[in-house]
Amino acid sequence: MGITAHQVLPVYHLTRIDSCTLLVWGIAKGVIAGQAWAMNPDTTHHHEEPAPFETTDPVHAARMWDEMYSASGRRWSGNANPQLVAEISGKPGGNALDLGCGEGGDALWLASQGWNVCAVDVSAVALARAAEHQASAGQDLHGQISWELRDLNDWKPSAEFDLVSAQFLHSTALPWQQALATAAGAVRTGGMLLIVGHHPDHLPPWGAHRVAHALFTAADVVAELELDGHRWRLDVSEDRRRPIAGPDGQEAVVADVVLSALRLQA
Ligand SMILES: C[S@@+](CC[C@H](N)C(=O)[O-])C[C@H]1O[C@@H](n2cnc3c(N)ncnc32)[C@H](O)[C@@H]1O
Repeated sequence: MGITAHQVLPVYHLTRIDSCTLLVWGIAKGVIAGQAWAMNPDTTHHHEEPAPFETTDPVHAARMWDEMYSASGRRWSGNANPQLVAEISGKPGGNALDLGCGEGGDALWLASQGWNVCAVDVSAVALARAAEHQASAGQDLHGQISWELRDLNDWKPSAEFDLVSAQFLHSTALPWQQALATAAGAVRTGGMLLIVGHHPDHLPPWGAHRVAHALFTAADVVAELELDGHRWRLDVSEDRRRPIAGPDGQEAVVADVVLSALRLQA
C-alpha cells in the first residue's frame, strides 16, 4: 500500500515527562485509524511526515517498521525505558535478550550495567540506528551487544537468557501472544522475564488509535503465559501510572503494564 498525500498528518513528538512516553500516530484514511507506539520519543522537533504503511499481515512486518523508522530521523530518545531501569538497576549482569529493541536505548543501558545483550528487531533501519548510537556513545562495551535482524513471527532464539525483556513490543503485524511466548521460552531456569506494555485502557486521550489486538493487560499476559503456574514465580504484575504531556501541552496520565517473573523450571 502506498502512502498518499491525504494520509499525511502531523506526527506528535510529545513532550517527554520521563523517558517512556507515548508517540501518537494519526493516520487519515477516511476514518481515523492509527497506532500507539511507545517510548522514548525524540522530542527535539515537530514536523509533518508521511504516516507509515500499516498492516496486520505478518509478512509485511519488516516493511511496516522500516517505513515507520524511515519516515523521520531518530524516533526515540535513546534513553532506557523507565520500567526496565526500575526493575533491573542494581541486579548483577548476565546475558540478556531484548526483543523489539528498536533504536537500542535499552540494550545500550543494559550493556552499561554489565549485561551481554542480544538485541533483536525486525527493522534493519532501527538496528542501523542502534549501532550508530552505540558507536557515537563512545562507551567501551567490549562487544557486549549483538544487534540481530529477526522477525519474531518466525524466529525463536536457540539460546536461553538470564533476562528476557520485551518493552512495548506492540505491533499490528505480530500477535502479542506469539511474541511473548517466544520471550518466555527464552528465559533460563532462574532467569527473569520482564514484559512492559501500554495499558489498553489508559492510552492518552488525544490518541486516535485503539489497536486492541496489539495491546494486553497484566491479567491477559499472566493467563496466556501461565505465569501463575508452577513454572514461574510471579514477582510483579501491575499497572504503573505516569504523567505525560500532549502535543499541545495537554496533561494526561497513562499506565504501563509491568510483569516480572522468575522461571522456576523448564
Ligand atoms: C513500539 S517499538 C518499541 C521499541 C523499543 N522496545 C523501545 O521501547 O523503545 C516496537 C519494536 O518492535 C519491533 N518489532 C515489531 N514487530 C516485530 C517482529 N515481528 N519481530 C521483531 N521485532 C519487531 C519494531 O521494529 C519496533 O522497533
